[in-house]
Amino acid sequence: MDIILATNNAHKVEELKRMLEPLGYTLFAQKEKGISLEVEENGTTFEQNAYLKAKAIYDLTGCAALADDSGLCVDALDGAPGVYSARYAGEPCDDKKNNAKLLQAMEGVQDRAAQFVSVICYIDEKGEAHYFRGECPGTVGFEEKGNGGFGYDPLFMVGEKSYAEMTGAEKDAISHRGRAIRLLADYLKK
Ligand code: IMP
Repeated sequence: MDIILATNNAHKVEELKRMLEPLGYTLFAQKEKGISLEVEENGTTFEQNAYLKAKAIYDLTGCAALADDSGLCVDALDGAPGVYSARYAGEPCDDKKNNAKLLQAMEGVQDRAAQFVSVICYIDEKGEAHYFRGECPGTVGFEEKGNGGFGYDPLFMVGEKSYAEMTGAEKDAISHRGRAIRLLADYLKK
């Protein structure tokens, strides 16, 4: 079955393909279908934003579409940056600036608890939306660690390792997106 990924984020495309293609699904990044759409993410929840992105691609193509909306929710910052994770330090989105702003916001803060959240909205061929939420608890590190991944990966610690210090397989096994994708995969298998 073909599914179009409603994202321009190459890292998300890599992770989604890495986890879903071995299960027999053929995924196309929207770019591979010649679609350069940037949807305005004006929702206030991960669910709303994931739906906006998936629906835009479904309406354009009539094909099954999948979008991930994700972000880092830090307890000591009342859940920020949350749905605003991509543009935490302003636009255009800049991972380095976001990480610097997060480190600054957490200066002197002892409670480093945080959750990474991914909500996947899958719109099937009939236009029906299905939601899958994955969360990964961890902490905000005191400095950037590791060279892999993207976004807040160097600052998000699960135990002793940051996401950026993990291999792709290690991250997939515990990550917010990995958890959401496995729920989606269970649903698709039925
Ligand atoms: P959006 O889902 O396109 O609104 O953007 C999510 C933002 O959350 C990304 O731009 C990253 O800053 C952050 N993010 C989401 N998932 C991850 C991840 O797996 N690692 C690091 N940062 C992530």
